[in-house]
Amino acid sequence: MAKNKIQYECSSCGHLSAKWLGLCPACGEWHTFEEVMAVKETAKRHKVDVSQTDSADAVRLSDVTFSNEDRKSTNLQELDRVLGGGLIKGSFLLLGGDPGIGKSTLMLQMAQKCSDWNILYVAGEESASQIKQRASRIGLKGDNLLIYSNTEIQSVIAQARKIKPDLMIVDSIQTVFSSDLNSLPGSVQQIRECSAMLQQIAKKEGITTLMIGHVTKEGDIAGPRILEHMVDTVLHFEGDQSQLHRLLRGVKNRFGPAHEVGVFEMRDTGLHEVVNPSDLFLSEMNSTVSGNCVTCIMEGSRPILIEVQALVTPSNYSTPQRTASGFDQRRLQLLIAVLEKRVGLGFAGQDVYLNIAGGLKISDTAADLAVMSALASSIRDIPVEDKTLYVGEVGLGGEIRRVPFLIRRLQEAEKMGFKKAVLPNSETTGSFKLTLQTADTVSKAIRN
Ligand code: TYD
Ligand code: MG
Repeated sequence: MAKNKIQYECSSCGHLSAKWLGLCPACGEWHTFEEVMAVKETAKRHKVDVSQTDSADAVRLSDVTFSNEDRKSTNLQELDRVLGGGLIKGSFLLLGGDPGIGKSTLMLQMAQKCSDWNILYVAGEESASQIKQRASRIGLKGDNLLIYSNTEIQSVIAQARKIKPDLMIVDSIQTVFSSDLNSLPGSVQQIRECSAMLQQIAKKEGITTLMIGHVTKEGDIAGPRILEHMVDTVLHFEGDQSQLHRLLRGVKNRFGPAHEVGVFEMRDTGLHEVVNPSDLFLSEMNSTVSGNCVTCIMEGSRPILIEVQALVTPSNYSTPQRTASGFDQRRLQLLIAVLEKRVGLGFAGQDVYLNIAGGLKISDTAADLAVMSALASSIRDIPVEDKTLYVGEVGLGGEIRRVPFLIRRLQEAEKMGFKKAVLPNSETTGSFKLTLQTADTVSKAIRN
């Protein structure tokens, strides 16, 4: 019998150590070491092989064939957009997201749309009857969906080989386990072993496999980092539980564009695709109130109009508040400093609150000018001109810098009925119905 002894493993990179360590020497993360049982014959662990046949001989690249027919549309436009047109046969994917965000619902809806696919759903999180309840809520009949409630990985693999589904969904990777290991489901060892086996079933048997994964408090997918290296595609499903919209973001994609974004809305009847997100984020805008300003951010290749809201009020605190939601707090402080120094607006003794409407989190610096315009509008208590778009990155000298995809941003604003755009000095080509007002400094752009 193999003799087991205690070892410590880094939950971030999988580095093994005989002692517990505070700092991982391999990846530099703190407090990531967890106790694991080391199986004496460790070599066995690294030889996970689920194939029944010998691996094929090496082939010449020129002899390898690839056709786009290997890509199957999911019939969900927003999901296809993120995947780069559909699912590639035999690919291995990971879908991460907070609990309750709608990962399982999204998978069921994909099953509904792809009624010609044979789908095996490994249910580790919920019982078959719970899944049935959800399926009836979204109107899924489920003739093409086989629910498998056993989470032992060897049985899962055997079942997949027997059924040969077009797609296997493992909900979730944290609940499947290998009986060869002593550790609990969800431990680093288990996740690594199980995902290695699933990877082989995807590559060798050509079964497209999608794993659902939990995320940690920091928003990373729980488990070893190698999980993300192993898969072809990593998707993140994100959103605020208090809001209706959900963003599906491509974080890594070997078969298509990375960083594309799909937008959905969670309603009583499941997820609905949002084909025009600008509509969604501007729907409740009130342009007669001071402090509101519209900008256009890029999410992947997609321009989205969003509303920036600022509120500047006299402070009752000894240290005035600077609060940002959906926007980087330090960038807000920087932009306030630039407004003070370059435009001459005084924020001393004023509380500043900044909010991106709709619960969106943005990192596109093209929103700088809109943030400053909203702040200036609120402190002066004069509303920003209606139907006006502000785009531009702002530097410390108060200069407005160019932004990528300017034309696409302007086209989106025009499509949404905007009349005017304030933008950096640039050779903007193309004919726009919009009045274009270029400015090289913030003080010129937000002059009232
Ligand atoms: P779920 O898909 O179970 O999330 P995950 O798998 O990511 O944990 O989504 C559950 C949430 O979605 C739950 O809070 C209820 C909500 N929901 C709706 O609002 N409408 C619906 O039609 C469905 C099916 C779920
Ligand atoms: Mg779920």
